[in-house]
Amino acid sequence: MALTKSKSYTLSLIFLSIFLLYLTLTCKLRPKNHDIPISNLEKPTFRQNIVMPMEHFTSKPQWFQLLQDEIKDKSTLKIGLVNLDDVSFFDYVGLHGAKNMETLDVKFPKVSNKIKWKDLFPEWIDEKEVSAKPTCPEIPMPVFDKYDELDVIIAKVPCKHVGMDVSRDVFRLQVNLVVANLLVKIGGLNKNRPVYAVFIGDCGPMWEIFRCEDMLLHEENLWVYKPELIRLKQKILMPVGSCQLAPPFPEQEQESWKSYPVSALDKTFHKPREAYVTVIHSSEAYVCGAIALAQSIILTNSTRDLVLLADDSISPKSLHGLRAAGWKIKKIKRIRSPHAPKNAYNEWNYSKLRIWQLIEYDKVIFIDSDFVVFRNIDHFFSYPELSAAGNDGYIFNSGVMIIEPSKCKFQTLMNKRFEVDSYNGGDQGFLNEMFVWWHRWPTKLNTLKIFVNSNHRHLPDDSYTVHYLGLKPWLCYEDYDCNWDKMESQIFASDSAHGRWWKVYKKMSMELREYCALTPQMDARIVKWRRKAKKANFSDGHWRIQVKDPRKLSN
Ligand SMILES: *[C@@H]1O[C@H](CO)[C@@H](O)[C@H](O)[C@H]1NC(C)=O
Ligand SMILES: *[C@@H]1O[C@H](CO)[C@@H](O)[C@H](O)[C@H]1NC(C)=O
Ligand SMILES: *[C@@H]1O[C@H](CO)[C@@H](O)[C@H](O)[C@H]1NC(C)=O
Repeated sequence: MALTKSKSYTLSLIFLSIFLLYLTLTCKLRPKNHDIPISNLEKPTFRQNIVMPMEHFTSKPQWFQLLQDEIKDKSTLKIGLVNLDDVSFFDYVGLHGAKNMETLDVKFPKVSNKIKWKDLFPEWIDEKEVSAKPTCPEIPMPVFDKYDELDVIIAKVPCKHVGMDVSRDVFRLQVNLVVANLLVKIGGLNKNRPVYAVFIGDCGPMWEIFRCEDMLLHEENLWVYKPELIRLKQKILMPVGSCQLAPPFPEQEQESWKSYPVSALDKTFHKPREAYVTVIHSSEAYVCGAIALAQSIILTNSTRDLVLLADDSISPKSLHGLRAAGWKIKKIKRIRSPHAPKNAYNEWNYSKLRIWQLIEYDKVIFIDSDFVVFRNIDHFFSYPELSAAGNDGYIFNSGVMIIEPSKCKFQTLMNKRFEVDSYNGGDQGFLNEMFVWWHRWPTKLNTLKIFVNSNHRHLPDDSYTVHYLGLKPWLCYEDYDCNWDKMESQIFASDSAHGRWWKVYKKMSMELREYCALTPQMDARIVKWRRKAKKANFSDGHWRIQVKDPRKLSN
């Protein structure tokens, strides 16, 4: 009795193995046609999933159940596979046996491996050229109209964990852009038909393209997203890199975007949920700068809110002046940079990350307190996160940038700040690792006061702003740019650019000017360096100037 039982058990085991072997072979032998050039492709046909007898033994994975619940009115999910063939698809997701789905390979030629990140993000482009816009390298896309019927895109995202350059992978960008374009095309066809993306791989999708708010599920190496299509559309309208200037979002699109996330209450007030924001922390050195910045923005007739984040080191008296200048004040706790030495000038620069916490705004244009604005820049609110002007190489300058506040983004930045490096220990280095895919704003939005050619020390008249690098104007005299006094500061010296800051100062009330007064220590510092310049007989001769600035304390 016992013998026959175990015999039939063995027999059934053998049959089962043969059956499984047969199945594996048929799976493997199915032709893989992903090397066929696009032009040879017929209208693609969907493949029915092979139904396995073991179906009722395995429970459906959570993500598949989720999608079926989301897309209730469809009995069969149509799934497009990006960078993933059938075999690895089933290996990855363990969906053997699911009846209610059809899969389709999405074909596109892989981007040439000759194209490197620096080709997409060149250090310099000719911004003035209107007739022949600078071109970007081609990132091939699929022929979209073949995929109208898809409900879900499943993509395998390449992911390498090596050094600083993990995320600057052109193929990774291509896969993300293919998915984003597909979703917008197929979702847009049917008036915002909900469409979904599933990403497979250790790194998930690029968060610059797929917002963390849109994530429905994340388990191990699988992510499910339901993107807000209007915002995603703006991303795909951007150039593939900073190889071209970013275009503004078209106005009709903006209107639909505006009505999207805003609550009914906000709609009745029609308040623009947009603000200029600056941050001051750790000392009062930038209080005068922030006051001048607010006044300069107000002079351009801006209609947006002005918000200043300040930590405990800003005194009540200074806060009073900042409010009088136009800022709404928010108190923050400063954030230490994990990559800066103790007591370094940039020890607390990560405080800037708090701008992502301003979720009462849809968009924020961050401006450092050592800027003044000369022309109205309100129309730059129509650009997406993250747009900024270039710095060097493929790096953007974080002195002025547009971001979209978000709780989960702030949390991600806070969590990643320990493991992700910063080339300069400050926020700029960190943000450039977190937002490798950024959009180029014109240089005249962040005109750096720095002069490589010492014979030409004027900034263009049509600049929107000036970014005062080096010694700040309010730490010098009105009629004297003290950057002349130090050899290493002379690259920042310019009488005309210095004068432009003081033009704003002259329009400030007497009450506000008080906050730009010199203390005896500040004055002594200027005097000391002037004396040194005189002794060294600097040929520019600025040390000879008879200073008339009434703020000057000494003789
Ligand atoms: C701001 O508005 C005032 C009053 O309408 C106008 O005189 C001034 O020229 C405007 N300034 C700018 C920079 O547009
Ligand atoms: C860091 O913050 C300090 C003080 O606010 C500022 O002078 C400096 O420019 C900042 N550095 C960077 C790299 O952002
Ligand atoms: C200072 O430099 C000028 C030329 O720039 C020269 O004529 C003069 O003799 C120098 N003075 C001293 C004290 O070295």
